[in-house]
Amino acid sequence: MKNLEKLSLLNISKSFFIKDKKIDVLNDVNLDVSPGEFVSIIGPSGCGKSTLLKLIIGLSSQTAGSILLGGHELQYSTHDIGIVFQEARLFPWLSVYKNITFGLENKQLSEDDKNDVQKHIKLVGLESFADAYPSQLSGGMQQRVSIARALISHPKVLLLDEPFGALDAITRIHMQQEITRIWQTEKSTILLVTHDIDEAIFLSDRVIVMSNRPATIKKIIPVELPRPRDRNGYDFLLLRKKIYKEFFDEIEIPFSFNI
Ligand SMILES: Nc1ncnc2c1ncn2[C@@H]1O[C@H](COP(=O)(O)OP(=O)(O)O)[C@@H](O)[C@H]1O
Ligand SMILES: [Mg+2]
Repeated sequence: MKNLEKLSLLNISKSFFIKDKKIDVLNDVNLDVSPGEFVSIIGPSGCGKSTLLKLIIGLSSQTAGSILLGGHELQYSTHDIGIVFQEARLFPWLSVYKNITFGLENKQLSEDDKNDVQKHIKLVGLESFADAYPSQLSGGMQQRVSIARALISHPKVLLLDEPFGALDAITRIHMQQEITRIWQTEKSTILLVTHDIDEAIFLSDRVIVMSNRPATIKKIIPVELPRPRDRNGYDFLLLRKKIYKEFFDEIEIPFSFNI
């Protein structure tokens, strides 16, 4: 069992400079994600959602504020955080197995490690495809590989940046069921960025609505529906309506839109 810890974003701001023009992207973002919690972030395109995840994984650094895990500044040399992007970003010349083990720092895999790899291949439902190459897999299967690759180093927090955005609607619904099962089995803390409001309600304990850029947290909506969730249930539809309203307040709609 992993020793899960609280992730805290404290007064996070981020600005970019393009030539000498300053672009404020995030403005005073504050969020605590509890150990084992599933939190989704939705917000207008370009508001800074991916930027926020990049700060958490250490691909970029914040202009102000701090990111804590278990009350301590995040150490990027550890494997505490894992990430899955919209595109699977696999190495085409490596098999599923080798793609998953690639990040294990070229160490000689012990029997325990090998068992763990097999366990993760099974966890994402790719037992028959360990020797397949990415070009031999569907988009959904490729995303399963990138999920296994992110989980193999047992991160305390898994970041998902629109991971199902490039998949067709049916595969996406299937992957949403799968990620719920994986989250319940692995007991990770998950922070998901999505533009799909139904996906956010279906998956999360809380939905965070971000404002336009410079983005801050506009609203936090708890989802207290029992799992597995019924997308057509009355309470689900009520929540959808509430979140649509928050979300569409943020973007300009060029036509009359009744929700
Ligand atoms: N490396 C960068 N340099 C300059 N501007 C950037 C950089 N990365 C992102 N941005 C800007 O930050 C804003 C937010 O981008 P992003 O976080 O990708 O948005 P989202 O994921 O919410 O759609 C955009 O205006 C984008 O142009
Ligand atoms: Mg993005």
